[in-house]
Amino acid sequence: MSKVSARPPFSGSASPALVLAVLLVIFVAATVYVVVARLYPAPPPISQDAVQVDHQYNLTLYVTGAAFVLAQLGLAWAVFRFRDRGQKASHIRGNVALEILWTSVTAIAFVGLGILGRNAWAGARFAPAAPGAIQIEVTTNQFVYTFRYPGPDGKFGRLDPSLVSAPAGNPLGIDPNDPAGRDDIVVASLTVPVNRPIELLVRSQDVVHNFFVRELRLQQDAVPGMVIPVHFTADRIGTYEIVCTQLCGLGHYKMHGLLNVVSESDYDAFLKREALPQ
Ligand code: CUA
Repeated sequence: MSKVSARPPFSGSASPALVLAVLLVIFVAATVYVVVARLYPAPPPISQDAVQVDHQYNLTLYVTGAAFVLAQLGLAWAVFRFRDRGQKASHIRGNVALEILWTSVTAIAFVGLGILGRNAWAGARFAPAAPGAIQIEVTTNQFVYTFRYPGPDGKFGRLDPSLVSAPAGNPLGIDPNDPAGRDDIVVASLTVPVNRPIELLVRSQDVVHNFFVRELRLQQDAVPGMVIPVHFTADRIGTYEIVCTQLCGLGHYKMHGLLNVVSESDYDAFLKREALPQ
């Protein structure tokens, strides 16, 4: 006769729940550390708009960061508190009042941050550039940036897409019959004077590209068939990288340009140097 031992009633185990809760707390602590210790700091801003974007970014980070920490710690607590003790699982139907509460809080936080952030984002786009802003055209194509200055006459010459030919020295297709185009300056990097409002007219000749300068916190897509104005005023002399942030083809990874922010006199010297002999 075989002996059948009586099984004790299953009472659950605290260890899986405890391990999961502790792991959650460690992940939260590690994430908070990465942010608080500024392990990956952004480069210093070089415009007032960029300062405003940083301010908005930090505000968003504090609000969403607090929600993240509270939610994850709450999850760790619930994982442990409601662990399997061998009890019978029961069905709950939710709580309408709580649903309304946290949906409203989330909606108010997100819409509120959106409204607060509107100035930081829309200032460079919807508001017109300051009167007297220097206009510079930015043309993207696979995989280069080309910049055009209107020259001494202050007018951009007409463009004719059928004349576009980089090998022939006319990457933008400037119409030679338009007198306004004869003094246009076409260069491979962007040079602007410090503390002067600049308006960029962003274009693309082929696919969607992007104009992004981290220090300006300014990022704008270049879309074929559109001329998109954005403006900025850089307040620190230096050389900064312009990068394309839209996956635009096999050469995307190397599509970049340079932004040179220079003194007023260096800017004049640049224009003089690049001006075509008339
Ligand atoms: Cu152009 Cu990516």
